[in-house]
Amino acid sequence: MIKVKNLVKKIEVDSKEKTILNGIDLSIEKGEKVVVIGPSGAGKSTFLRCINLLEDFSEGDIVFNGKSILEFKKSILRQKIGMIFQHFNLFSHMTVKKNITFAPVKLKIRSKKEANLQAKKLLESVKLENKAGLFPSRLSGGEKQRVAIVRALAMNPEVLLVDEPTSALDPKTAEEIADVLKSLANDITVIAVTHDMNFAKNLATRLVFMESGKILEDGKIEEVFENPANERIRSFFQK
Ligand SMILES: Nc1ncnc2c1ncn2[C@@H]1O[C@H](COP(=O)(O)OP(=O)(O)O)[C@@H](O)[C@H]1O
Ligand SMILES: [Mg+2]
Repeated sequence: MIKVKNLVKKIEVDSKEKTILNGIDLSIEKGEKVVVIGPSGAGKSTFLRCINLLEDFSEGDIVFNGKSILEFKKSILRQKIGMIFQHFNLFSHMTVKKNITFAPVKLKIRSKKEANLQAKKLLESVKLENKAGLFPSRLSGGEKQRVAIVRALAMNPEVLLVDEPTSALDPKTAEEIADVLKSLANDITVIAVTHDMNFAKNLATRLVFMESGKILEDGKIEEVFENPANERIRSFFQK
């Protein structure tokens, strides 16, 4: 469903060219849960952001359901490929409910009434039904991330891109977020960047290791963890 073909991203820093993504090839089937790990600066966030065109790329292509993402209208692409960020990125001037209903109503995916009903159900699914009228500043980190997750799900995405969703959270809350994502994103394709080994083990069917803008390893998560040759990869997880 997603085919990344020789993806290259170069930028100019102080009038020197810098390669951030250096030829990424990756094929992802519908429903896979792919966890991407690797050192800071490897290009993981940039890679995720290219997939829903938050960033452009220099060479190669990303094909989504048989069509280059460059042929999609950005708003349509981002409806199908949602994103969850490390720092939640909720709209601070909107209530929790409005955060969830705003985009589906604006893009005319749902009527206001339908969107409200959906928001209620989604908030119940993450046990936040009593927070619908609050502004994000009144929520804990874990609550904010649960809202961010259901806000993304309100668009009925086919793919969710998730960038270090638990790194701003304490371990217990991080585990809850992993559980929420796992249970709600059941039939959705997920590509998640994380340093959190529990999160990865809980969610992933497949593990990809990136360094210097390239994929160095790509395998089933059990294989990566069982194979002692992958000590280097394991060491990237914070205990
Ligand atoms: N807009 C930008 N301007 C300059 N450098 C950037 C920009 N975006 C990313 N980079 C650089 O690209 C590299 C990859 O960044 P990033 O994708 O954030 O890596 P990761 O998420 O793996 O830590 C880093 O060296 C970062 O400093
Ligand atoms: Mg990053």
